[in-house]
Amino acid sequence: MEIIDVISKRFSPYEFNDKPISKQDLNTLFEAAGKAASAFNEQPWRFIYALKSDEKIFNTIWECLVEGNQKWTKDVAVLIITVVKKEFTQNGKANVTATHDLGLAVGNLSAQATAMGIHLHQMSGILHEKAISNLNIPEGYEPVTAIALGYYDGEFVEKPRKAITEITFEGKWK
Ligand SMILES: Cc1cc2nc3c(=O)[nH]c(=O)nc-3n(C[C@H](O)[C@H](O)[C@H](O)COP(=O)(O)O)c2cc1C
Repeated sequence: MEIIDVISKRFSPYEFNDKPISKQDLNTLFEAAGKAASAFNEQPWRFIYALKSDEKIFNTIWECLVEGNQKWTKDVAVLIITVVKKEFTQNGKANVTATHDLGLAVGNLSAQATAMGIHLHQMSGILHEKAISNLNIPEGYEPVTAIALGYYDGEFVEKPRKAITEITFEGKWK
């Protein structure tokens, strides 16, 4: 079997058209994210978002991006800051897989978005302290990435990938 389309057709554009994303579609994406597996079912992921149409709120998120990322995200349909809860609710211990679990949730969001014709571009280039203060992120939580979402008219751009032999080891590290 071939790799399914929502994986093989995904890529991260730097340009989006000006079509907005509806609140309903955005909620569908977050619902897909929330279906991910997580250690102790903690669901440590949180998403702070703004639609471009809510200019003021959008700018409070946009200001949390590093300059290089601000350049191409000014007019994207939706901006998200991802956040994790750092400790388990049930025992207060450090949740060492919180960012891993966030990644699974974003993977779900990505697959759902791709199926809906929406593209995303994730960013680690964020200003963490600014995000904490601008977005009122409470103690015990930390911002991790940003995500730009939107529709795209251009061609599919495939980035180079490591060979399977580079990323897998049968039995032990070679
Ligand atoms: C966690 C994460 C952080 C990233 N940070 C940035 C970033 O700060 N700025 C940027 O332009 N792209 C960023 N990217 C996009 C990657 O460069 C891109 O996913 C990678 O080159 C593979 O390309 P593709 O997504 O089109 O397949 C990030 C991607 C991920 C998953």
